[in-house]
Amino acid sequence: MYPCWCFGLCLDNFTLHDSFFPFFHSLVSPSLPFSGDIAGDQFNRRRYQFPLVPSDLVLSVKTKEMECPKEPLESQCSLSEMDDFDLTRALDKPRLKIERKRSFDERSMSELSTGYSRHDLDMAHSPGSRSFVDTPLSYVRNSFEPHPMVAEAWEALRRSMVFFRGQPVGTIAAYDHASEEVLNYDQVFVRDFVPSALAFLMNGEPDIVKNFLLKTLQLQGWEKRVDRFKLGEGVMPASFKVLHDPVRKTDTIAADFGESAIGRVAPVDSGFWWIILLRAYTKSTGDLTLSETPECQRGIRLILSLCLSEGFDTFPTLLCADGCSMVDRRMGVYGYPIEIQALFFMALKSALSMLKHDEEGREFIEKIVKRLHALSFHMRNYFWLDFQQLNDIYRYKTEEYSHTAVNKFNVMPDSIPDWVFDFMPLRGGYFVGNVSPARMDFRWFSLGNCIAILSSLATPDQSMAIMDLLEHRWEELVGEMPLKICYPCIESHEWRIVTGCDPKNTRWSYHNGGSWPVLLWMLTAACIKTGRPQIARRAIDLIESRLHRDCWPEYYDGKLGRYVGKQARKYQTWSIAGYLVAKMMLEDPSHIGMISLEEDKQMNPVIKRSASWTC
Ligand code: GLC
Repeated sequence: MYPCWCFGLCLDNFTLHDSFFPFFHSLVSPSLPFSGDIAGDQFNRRRYQFPLVPSDLVLSVKTKEMECPKEPLESQCSLSEMDDFDLTRALDKPRLKIERKRSFDERSMSELSTGYSRHDLDMAHSPGSRSFVDTPLSYVRNSFEPHPMVAEAWEALRRSMVFFRGQPVGTIAAYDHASEEVLNYDQVFVRDFVPSALAFLMNGEPDIVKNFLLKTLQLQGWEKRVDRFKLGEGVMPASFKVLHDPVRKTDTIAADFGESAIGRVAPVDSGFWWIILLRAYTKSTGDLTLSETPECQRGIRLILSLCLSEGFDTFPTLLCADGCSMVDRRMGVYGYPIEIQALFFMALKSALSMLKHDEEGREFIEKIVKRLHALSFHMRNYFWLDFQQLNDIYRYKTEEYSHTAVNKFNVMPDSIPDWVFDFMPLRGGYFVGNVSPARMDFRWFSLGNCIAILSSLATPDQSMAIMDLLEHRWEELVGEMPLKICYPCIESHEWRIVTGCDPKNTRWSYHNGGSWPVLLWMLTAACIKTGRPQIARRAIDLIESRLHRDCWPEYYDGKLGRYVGKQARKYQTWSIAGYLVAKMMLEDPSHIGMISLEEDKQMNPVIKRSASWTC
């Protein structure tokens, strides 16, 4: 809790820069203490007065895995001690090199991989339980006989490898020789390489990942300019390309930090993915020497200093331009997009587990701890939407002034789109696409919601609610090809205004409601983390019925994701790698420890189970 009038200005657990104090002081009476916790309590009392579900129901897997613990792997030490992190302790806790202690995510979940247990079945039939509601039990059963697609996927993944002076440093975005326009699909994209990296790590091939991390770290050191404007030091490239000179027999690198990208926007997500991948590498190999090098420590700090600097922000979320992440074209995601906020949260937590407690590191650790606290509060409260919350917004008063406002961002109920009233099930919920003054983007974005589960930005109840929504809205969100990048699409006049008439982003295509197979790995990881592997199994079955036959397209079009995307590349590497990662995780759920973070015990969930789930 930050009593704001004592040491700074505070909006919902987020401290503003000191220089704002006199300004705000003149606006708001200092006799009215405005503490985020007080405001938050009001919010929660009003909206979430529901009993907590017993923890054995919420995390049934946790109980089960305790019954069958695996032996620790001696050769590996880990970050798990810090992953189970306690924000208050993180500030002064010495860094421990300890024997790998398996967390919830890492411990054996044999009943997940073998399908279902007695306990799961009991859960499925017990009143009020949320397991398997709409999923046929046939999907719950294990079917892990190697699928012929797996061998082909590995072959295709290896074909996409890029070498720099003989060393593998990444994978190109697409190995599609049939496509006329190469554009930049022959480059190594940072975000695209993540599933490749995870596949290699899971397969015990960490070298390419290490080389990639080091190469991109070097690129971070380049001076970056767009025309006459210099970009921040910490910016990581969106992509890079290795240029081979066959005559001189030399390799050189060309990188793009946004100065060549369509729309000239810097990739905000690259730095976050880099940090997340560094943790995955460390976690998977037990090799602490890479993340502890002064170069990596500096790289982390540079990335963080871009987003932790104080400025005009009134929210702990990160303000972004359109096109700065996976959705790299104008799609109305400017502002505070869920994808970036979830990745930001995950990167902060990952960095916290890797930063050394030396003088420079400590300064950042302090900032991270405060930011995480404020960010999770903000996201869990203001981005969360379920039936009850929707009904509350529908009845919002507007034009409220001062800290007592319920409708803090002055969202106009008339701006709620019609579709969301039908879409919202009684049971389930999700983090909306964007929240900013007088604007709530109600669209569902898959990546942000899956990362929210994996990073534990979502509380356990919220994670379950997201999975409930996926099950209830399977046809809309998954259809015939996992997984819609967002839902629903925008069309007609709205499409013209929001996308600037982008012919690639027409309705139900590409970023505008298209279906992206790469998202399968995130969905699978989220399913495993929430103890719902049957959902992932069902999605994988859909992928296996088509992806290989269609030559691993980048995306699918249509309301159900039935058609290969209008301009989709074939042999898109992250579609291939995403499938492999999903398969390997389902076969050995302990893999998700690389990419999943535990809930902080100290950041007690502010939101309890919503009434909509008990109906
Ligand atoms: C598209 C995607 C982007 C991806 C790139 C390379 O532009 O929107 O997320 O990184 O292709 O695959």
